[in-house]
Amino acid sequence: MKYIDIHCHLNLPEFDLDYSEAISRAQEKEVGMIVVGVDRESSLKAVKLAEENKDIWAIIGLHPADNAKEVFDIEFYKKLAQNPKVVGIGETGFDYYHMLPEDKARQQDIFEKQITIANELKKPLMLHLRNGKKGENAYTDALEVLKKHKKINFELKGNVHFFAGNLSEAQEFIKLGFKLSFTGVITFARNYDEVIKNIPLNMIMTETDAPYVAPIPYRGKRNEPSYVIEVVNKIAEIRGEEREKVRIQLVENAKEMFNI
Ligand code: NI
Repeated sequence: MKYIDIHCHLNLPEFDLDYSEAISRAQEKEVGMIVVGVDRESSLKAVKLAEENKDIWAIIGLHPADNAKEVFDIEFYKKLAQNPKVVGIGETGFDYYHMLPEDKARQQDIFEKQITIANELKKPLMLHLRNGKKGENAYTDALEVLKKHKKINFELKGNVHFFAGNLSEAQEFIKLGFKLSFTGVITFARNYDEVIKNIPLNMIMTETDAPYVAPIPYRGKRNEPSYVIEVVNKIAEIRGEEREKVRIQLVENAKEMFNI
């Protein structure tokens, strides 16, 4: 495995017709993949893909906003999470961008239940955090929740997927044992550079969030895991470090976090 995409959604309908071709293209380039569930159905599909393919793992859970109708069944997720190819719990957290005011309590409730599962099974958390349109801060709220839980269970750790917070928030997550992952958006938006340059390389991971946000030179197309190579190269460029050194360290970081 030369690269790893730690957050993709080959389990979503955008890949229904050709997920096996997308997997083959990633495997040809030695790209490992972690397929992330957003609800019950997509979590089951993530586990199925992980069981059937080499260098694919699954993270299972309920997204804070993607399926607002689902009632979180803790026993279902706890049981599914015991599968050895499940390497984390999520994606979970706060999505204030897509939230109606009455959803806030539900988001907090399902977030805390997923932390409970992560603690019980000693698996990392995959966080999804998105600020609101009026500046409501999902990052500082999540830090508060994590600090509370960390007092009870010091081993709690994980990753902030699609990190879009500022440098001081980044440093707070790192202090709590959370690595930060970046998507193809860093190839065309410059507001991630400061964080990428100023945090330790061993706290960074790479992802595509496919089918969303394809990197340059694939912008506007459907994204896929093989494109994670563009994200790795851009991180090396932004940090002014050698590509090969960065590539190797980024794979090591994911192996350490997800115990793979
Ligand atoms: Ni996602």
